[in-house]
Amino acid sequence: MSVSVGWMFDLSDKTALVTGAGQNVGAGIASALASQGAHVLINDLLPERAAEVADQVSAAGGSAAPAGFDVTDLDAVQAELAKHPPINILVNNAGNGGAEQMRPKPFREMEPAEWDSPIEVNLRGVLNCVHAVINPMVEAGWGRIITISSGAGSAGVGIGVAPYSAGKGGGLGFMRSLALENAQFGVTANSVALGLMDNTAGGDYTEHLARGIPVKRLGTPADIGAICVYLVSEEASWITGQTINVNGGSITS
Ligand SMILES: NC(=O)c1ccc[n+]([C@@H]2O[C@H](COP(=O)([O-])OP(=O)(O)OC[C@H]3O[C@@H](n4cnc5c(N)ncnc54)[C@H](O)[C@@H]3O)[C@@H](O)[C@H]2O)c1
Repeated sequence: MSVSVGWMFDLSDKTALVTGAGQNVGAGIASALASQGAHVLINDLLPERAAEVADQVSAAGGSAAPAGFDVTDLDAVQAELAKHPPINILVNNAGNGGAEQMRPKPFREMEPAEWDSPIEVNLRGVLNCVHAVINPMVEAGWGRIITISSGAGSAGVGIGVAPYSAGKGGGLGFMRSLALENAQFGVTANSVALGLMDNTAGGDYTEHLARGIPVKRLGTPADIGAICVYLVSEEASWITGQTINVNGGSITS
């Protein structure tokens, strides 16, 4: 056995794009990747959010740049990425669904306009970003793609989230197909399916939700950043096509 001392996950020669990284989970993922040496493009629909997180990462000694664009707009994705170094690591984190979860309504009562946004952001946005980065990854013979999903992508978790479930579940299948197509080129593709995060609620409701989780707390951005660091590392090159549930033990399916 040989023993060496140093960073376990050295991402210092990698450029990462984290979408929807202007707050909460995405900001945590961006900060975790930067902490291991990656140069991180902080994307958000709201450029001021992206700029604020990029400033925070830089102030903490990391390397980051803001990249404000809408992941549902393929032209905008391509135009912005042309300004930056090739992307080695893509984390598809941009998503929505919160509003639907606050407004319980069965799918049978929804109008078509109500499923446009959950499908556009959670599914089309993922396809757009992957399409913009996959060929350079294949040519380089190395790449890492993670899509942030939800327990709602594989299980019924409540009334009102059916379109969100469709978007998140579509992402799971997309990652599996991508994994199969690109494993031979050194590109891995995995999903991380989150349980309830600590920005979901507040006050007494947080405590109520936490009681239903085996670990007895909601998830934090740092919980998700840690698994992402591992999945994008060299050491995780044999993990592809998987869905990793990170949820305090909530979902066993
Ligand atoms: N919060 C939870 O409990 C929870 C649970 C399961 C899964 N998830 C998933 O985790 C991810 C992050 O969740 P969060 O709670 O941090 O979300 P959030 O709503 O707090 O932040 C999402 C960010 O994405 C940005 N965004 C939205 N649409 C975009 C677009 N079209 N292009 C670029 N950026 C866009 C928003 O401006 C926002 O800053 C999402 O994919 C979400 O579906 C969250």
